Amino acid sequence: MRMYDLIEKKKTGHTLTTEEINYMILGYTNGEIPDYQMSAMTMAICFRGMNDKETLDLTLAMRDSGDCLDLSKIHGLKADKHSTGGVGDKTSLVLTPIIAALGIPVAKMSGRGLGHTGGTIDKLECFPGFTTALSEETFIHNVNTIKLAIAGQTANLAPADKKLYALRDVTATVDQMSLIASSIMSKKLASGSDIIVLDVKTGSGAFMKKSEDAKKLAETMVQIGTMAGKKVAAVITDMDQPLGNAVGNSVEVIEAIHALSGHGPSDLMEVVYALGSKMLVLSGAAGDEASAKAAMKETIDSGAALHKLAEFVEAQNGDPSYVYDTELFEKAAYTIEIPALKAGYITHIEAESIGIACMTLGGGRETKESKIDLSVGILLKKKCGDLVKEGDTIALIYANDMKKAEIAKQQILDAYAIGDTKPAQSVMIKAVI
Ligand code: URA
Repeated sequence: MRMYDLIEKKKTGHTLTTEEINYMILGYTNGEIPDYQMSAMTMAICFRGMNDKETLDLTLAMRDSGDCLDLSKIHGLKADKHSTGGVGDKTSLVLTPIIAALGIPVAKMSGRGLGHTGGTIDKLECFPGFTTALSEETFIHNVNTIKLAIAGQTANLAPADKKLYALRDVTATVDQMSLIASSIMSKKLASGSDIIVLDVKTGSGAFMKKSEDAKKLAETMVQIGTMAGKKVAAVITDMDQPLGNAVGNSVEVIEAIHALSGHGPSDLMEVVYALGSKMLVLSGAAGDEASAKAAMKETIDSGAALHKLAEFVEAQNGDPSYVYDTELFEKAAYTIEIPALKAGYITHIEAESIGIACMTLGGGRETKESKIDLSVGILLKKKCGDLVKEGDTIALIYANDMKKAEIAKQQILDAYAIGDTKPAQSVMIKAVI
């Protein structure tokens, strides 16, 4: 078999066989197929597409390119959740303790933030001492004892995807449905959970700007997971403005703690309940979504979910006292108020620009090596549909560098649109698959 022939085959619109896809992924992972041939192939895939069978084959080949976690020593059905990435997305920090408090084992692999979207691992590291570098043994032990563990992805989990994603990132071949679906699902399948609930974001701050594209991506991923023998569901959620009010690392952790204490912003809670009720129904712990939601609410009202967060932080070497006293989190040196430049309704907040403003402050990564400042961030005091007077504070900036804060302030002002007409309220949950 020759990679040249496979590129030619895809270029002319033919279907690759399972053997051909396996040959290509194995050869690329071990360095026998060079980047230039693989990038020609990904570009051919962008133009010609892949059918469902090819997409499944690609996913399974990438899953099998490295280690697959064996979670069979964890009792019961294990649940995992994945988000396609957004701004202010602290859903995992709220959802996972709630599900664990209900006795469902949550074994989650998470990543760090890159670009304008934040990552769960960076946020968790706001708890001093917290580590996601867990041995397989500790990971399994923690899920068995407290029902929740979150680990960083090991280097050898779906290494083909790691290499391919880096290549796609620099060859304008990221935004192809089969490539995205196989990339996400190869990692989720290698992580070993039985239940996978996907939060597919759509809107200006998301990867999938159009709802139809998000739906197609969600359907593809659910189909792949189901064919691989997993229980999978996807919820398509709005990312036309940041989720909740906080954007940044420690500010988002504080917002998540408030949410677990019963004071979460309504948009965030809607997403948490939609994903969580799917998890509970798929696990068999709830008969329907209404009873699942009621059970989730009860963990918040009783304090069980907040307690679970503290237990989880402690089990991963973090300081649990921060869960009960958010004043302990490190504070940025300056707080800057951003005033509305005119009166009217907030008609739009460009999520991506808010994420970029957070990066400007030092709260996000431009490259994988960037060191981030956990204490900086943005608190949105006004969201879409709110009425403001000129000079009202629309957002707060937490900064450690006034020069960066000035740039971020302009980015935030540019992200807000203020008009005369109240916009229609956005629907948070666009579809459930
Ligand atoms: N996230 C991934 O893990 N892979 C993609 O291709 C896109 C988003």
